[in-house]
Amino acid sequence: MAPSLPSQPCNTEETVTQNEVYQETDKQFSQLVQTLPKGPGWMTPTLVQYQGFWYPPISIFKGLLLMQNHFTSRPNDIFMASFLKSGTTWLKAILFATMKRDEYEFDSHPLLTTGPHDCFPFLDTYICQSDVEALPSPRLFATHSAYSLWPKSITDSDCKIVYISRNPKDVFVSQYLFAQKLRPQMLPPLTMEEAFELFCRGVSEYGPFFDHVLGYWKASLEFPEKILFLKFEEMKKEPAKQIKKLAEFLGKPFSEEEEKDGVIDQIVKLCSFDNLTSLEVNKSGTSNFIPEMVVYNTNFFRKGQVGDSKNHLTPEMIAQLDQITEEKLKGTGFTFGESNKY
Ligand code: A3P
Repeated sequence: MAPSLPSQPCNTEETVTQNEVYQETDKQFSQLVQTLPKGPGWMTPTLVQYQGFWYPPISIFKGLLLMQNHFTSRPNDIFMASFLKSGTTWLKAILFATMKRDEYEFDSHPLLTTGPHDCFPFLDTYICQSDVEALPSPRLFATHSAYSLWPKSITDSDCKIVYISRNPKDVFVSQYLFAQKLRPQMLPPLTMEEAFELFCRGVSEYGPFFDHVLGYWKASLEFPEKILFLKFEEMKKEPAKQIKKLAEFLGKPFSEEEEKDGVIDQIVKLCSFDNLTSLEVNKSGTSNFIPEMVVYNTNFFRKGQVGDSKNHLTPEMIAQLDQITEEKLKGTGFTFGESNKY
């Protein structure tokens, strides 16, 4: 049976409080949107810059304000965080399958009929419409928000955070091609050259990209028991090893029996690009977790490879992004998977 997400606050008293919170947030949102620095959007006409990061001035940004001011974390909450196009869909499926492995059989698994994005909430917009308190523990949430924007009430709690990173060239190409599909027709076209220049300057949804990745990287070094930092490229190379690491980190390690029974391999197979893209729900279904736009599930799957960006970028673009990468990573001890250099 597909998981169902509660969508309504449960009693009148809570409804009033919730409505007040929404009204106050609406007001804050409108004031901020008018006053914040603006930049060109890839999928919306504009982006606004808030506390160092670029947001489309839609529910996603309102969700950030709600998260910062009104979210109460539980010690057993699990968050997965990512920059756009870094493997969110894949990790969402893996995280769900790993955490819920006692509840479902693989041959009738919810992921066979439910898109990964509908398996658990995208906090950035879910919080604008639904009561997060109504969700049973342990709650699973996905977010694209940068670590420095998280309120202390979450970062100081005992919750766990799993981040997935991906090399910037593949992220850029994936994001550009995704944005091309979602960009409203009434907007002027965005060329790859224009988008590349914006990406290099850090101007894209949830950008700057490097600040996003390095924020989580540094936090994962400081709080290794709280933040697990994964890389798309390592997941591609050794998915079983990374899933094992994930389960251990989440306090739900695979037993010897599970390993012998091939449970890890079943999760790898269930969540593989080939399997997910073969499913009807991911071929023809839609996700409406962003209220302002309908996204076809098929848009979350393209090639699913490491290094495909070399088929789209010019040698000059590659050299420029490699140079920026080198500068940004200097002294951080961080490297992007193995495809940092071709
Ligand atoms: P490409 O555009 O390079 O193919 P996100 O889920 O964060 O939006 O990222 C989308 C990217 O992850 C796309 O990359 C998509 O094809 C890839 N992807 C989606 N599901 C995947 C899976 N199960 N395995 C590997 N890559 C996957």
